[in-house]
Amino acid sequence: MHCDNWFVLGAGSMGCLWAASLASIGITPRLIVRAGGDQQRVALRLTVAGQTQQFSVEAVCARLINAPVDRLIVCTKARDTLAALHSIEPFLSDNCHILLLQNGMGSQEMVAKMFSNHTVWAASSTDGAYLMAPFHVCHAGLGETWIGPLTGTVTDGFDELLDNFRLTVRYHADIEQKLWEKLAVNCCINGLTALFDCRNGELLDGDVKQSWLDKLVDETALVLQGMGLPATSLHDRVYGVCQITADNISSTCQDARLGRATELPFINGFLIDKAAALTIPVPHHRTLMAQLEAAGIH
Ligand code: PAF
Repeated sequence: MHCDNWFVLGAGSMGCLWAASLASIGITPRLIVRAGGDQQRVALRLTVAGQTQQFSVEAVCARLINAPVDRLIVCTKARDTLAALHSIEPFLSDNCHILLLQNGMGSQEMVAKMFSNHTVWAASSTDGAYLMAPFHVCHAGLGETWIGPLTGTVTDGFDELLDNFRLTVRYHADIEQKLWEKLAVNCCINGLTALFDCRNGELLDGDVKQSWLDKLVDETALVLQGMGLPATSLHDRVYGVCQITADNISSTCQDARLGRATELPFINGFLIDKAAALTIPVPHHRTLMAQLEAAGIH
């Protein structure tokens, strides 16, 4: 019997994936949606390997929340997170646990600072999902998700996610390190695939793209070292991801193709800021961002 009120903020692919996954273990969350209108029950559909399950969940916009928010999973884009959280702030219960699932870094730090009276957790996930239709998500890539508190040493708050959940979720005491590990790989791959409008595997072309990739890896490794984080295996990890996801179009390249704002300010933008604070030169990251900007990719 779960007495806490669970909410998922954001009804994009990750929001629908997490809401459906919770519903599948009997914790039916309310889904906080952006659009106005009344509270409504929606048929949330989850497709995995051609099989579709359906769950009835309540979709509610921020101003109509009618229960204290005890457990909150935030699935908005990094750039929208603070504003979305502020819109529901009055409804957060005193001991609310907030789990942030944003790509990149920077937004988590801001939330942890501004919501310091709550327990803020972050997640680093490799699950892949896309919306087939509104409220219909396809769980296309079964990955794993690390979760851990951003501040303090709390270990419980999301226990239900760690055992017999339909997503693979693990606890990590140093979630910031996990976020950095993913960020470092994304810093090397994502912007470059958007600039060259290519698949991940095409970066290993033995030519211009690959030599640029190598330079980004070297600079990223220097920043990791400056942060006191392990950096020696970065080259292998980046090449490994390019090989394993060779046919994938990175999330950033997809955003660029659709003319959408990318997460680059929270990926390479974050790295460049950290490098500046550590006085580590990252000229190739800066050139990459400048060329993307000139190409209208933000
Ligand atoms: O952002 C993405 O698309 C993914 O994190 C990655 C690893 C680049 C694979 O496409």
